[in-house]
Amino acid sequence: MIDTPAVPTGELVLSLRGVSKNFGAVSALTDIDLDVHAGEVVALVGDNGAGKSTLVKILAGVHQPSSGAISFQGKQVVLADPSAALTLGIATVFQDLALCENLDIVANIFLGRELNPLRLDEVAMEVRAWTLLNELSARIPSVREVVASLSGGQRQTVAIARSLLLEPKLILLDEPTAALGVAQTAEVLNLIERVRDRGLGVVIISHNMEDVRAVADRIVVLRLGRNNGIFTPDASNQELVSAITGASNNSVSRRAERRQARPDHTQEPHS
Ligand SMILES: Nc1ncnc2c1ncn2[C@@H]1O[C@H](COP(=O)(O)OP(=O)(O)O)[C@@H](O)[C@H]1O
Ligand SMILES: [Mg+2]
Repeated sequence: MIDTPAVPTGELVLSLRGVSKNFGAVSALTDIDLDVHAGEVVALVGDNGAGKSTLVKILAGVHQPSSGAISFQGKQVVLADPSAALTLGIATVFQDLALCENLDIVANIFLGRELNPLRLDEVAMEVRAWTLLNELSARIPSVREVVASLSGGQRQTVAIARSLLLEPKLILLDEPTAALGVAQTAEVLNLIERVRDRGLGVVIISHNMEDVRAVADRIVVLRLGRNNGIFTPDASNQELVSAITGASNNSVSRRAERRQARPDHTQEPHS
């Protein structure tokens, strides 16, 4: 499934070929191909159990693939552990964000990576944090605010800014809008576009087709651990749901067919 509807123009950052992952007798992923280019947002969608998180964990160096090849910037690589993935330029924002509630934004952005571990240069860290957030046009009043007082969207922003600190080439976001309201979701989607405009490759996992369509350049569907289609954001809901569920005869497509069958908008027929 390498023929992509929209041909992206950026350099190929990440390329998976035939990646499989078994947990004992469970095949979580089978023969997965995936390409991500610089300056491209790829949405990874699929039902629960489709293998999305397993794929992200392989790219984050948390799990090792059972077979298959991963290339990063044209070279075959082994992502032996999370620090190998980070060093290479793959940053991951996991769903739980892993922020410290009681620390301020600067401390969270630099957690574990203090500029000068012996004698922290607080001013330099504050300036760097502020610059990063400004570049992302983040709506954060003060970098000395503690995370506990931030909204869900602002927390996501801090987590994303934190992942950009090491200047990655690829960023993986697991359900970045799952817990957010409408305004905060829009804020995070804007942020993702800004990350893409910096030339990064972005992989976003989402259950929300509206969000996916709003931000993705390509939509990659997984089903039961396999590739099940690549779509452009103008794909219909019906096409996407069919690919996700594997059924062409689901309630979404039935409803669409009924609508087409009665242009005069008469009563809903019994089915
Ligand atoms: N650590 C694990 N051990 C055993 N099975 C796992 C493990 N992680 C995931 N799986 C299985 O792999 C499949 C894919 O899961 P997952 O990647 O979490 O899907 P998704 O994120 O798309 O919901 C599921 O059948 C799940 O039960
Ligand atoms: Mg998951």
